[in-house]
Amino acid sequence: MDWPFFDLRLTCGAVTLRPVTDTDVPELADLFPDDAEQDPHAERLVGLAPAADRRRLLVQGIWRDRGSWSPRSWCLDLAVEVDGQLVGLQSLEGEDFPRLRTVDTGSWLAVPARGRRTAVAMRTSVLGLGFDHLGAEAAVSSARFDNVASLAVSRRLGYVDNGVSRTDSPSGVVEVQHLRLARKTWEAVRHSVTVTGLEPCLPWFGLSG
Ligand SMILES: CC(C)(COP(=O)(O)OP(=O)(O)OC[C@H]1O[C@@H](n2cnc3c(N)ncnc32)[C@H](O)[C@@H]1OP(=O)(O)O)[C@@H](O)C(=O)NCCC(=O)NCCS
Repeated sequence: MDWPFFDLRLTCGAVTLRPVTDTDVPELADLFPDDAEQDPHAERLVGLAPAADRRRLLVQGIWRDRGSWSPRSWCLDLAVEVDGQLVGLQSLEGEDFPRLRTVDTGSWLAVPARGRRTAVAMRTSVLGLGFDHLGAEAAVSSARFDNVASLAVSRRLGYVDNGVSRTDSPSGVVEVQHLRLARKTWEAVRHSVTVTGLEPCLPWFGLSG
């Protein structure tokens, strides 16, 4: 199959990340937590119950990310497994990556899987891919002020505050904290992330092997 990502694996301790497959999609939709934010501007299907519509947006987002992949604009959706059990989703995104060398991240974990530093391991894994294998110079992230868990993950990994903006949300206008991690800060700490199966994927990132 001419989609090399299915063989990509990232490992950090007990946490393994691998590209989402079609068979993961229904299970991910079942695990999708109520507090994971979605694009407030996404079109809603009024005929669907809100929970079903959130799952639809998740599923269509996964398919869209795969179908619209381009070196100019990509989003790698990775299924997160702990001890072989699917527990969530971690994404790594790049816009004009070969020039800008900046990655963005997004993630969620099923509620029962939280509180075990899995989110830190997930983020560390994709940062290892971004900085150590794709040549990123910076990673950015953003979270609402009240999303203490997401902000804690970023700060634990050395991100620093990088401005505040205001955005719309289902509960009204909210403030968003932006954060940034520079390559130098990432390299100052030793991280143990294993990446395999990347070589055939490099052209898809606009990079050569
Ligand atoms: C964000 C999310 C993935 C974090 O998962 P998690 O299992 O709680 O994370 P971890 O166990 O790895 O903990 C990460 C840090 O958050 C802290 N934390 C987690 N929940 C917290 C809470 N409710 N209050 C304060 N700190 C909290 C932990 O103490 C830890 O910080 P530390 O390493 O400095 O001690 C999870 O909460 C989630 O799926 N939230 C909904 C989706 C979401 O908001 N995604 C991020 C979008 S930007």
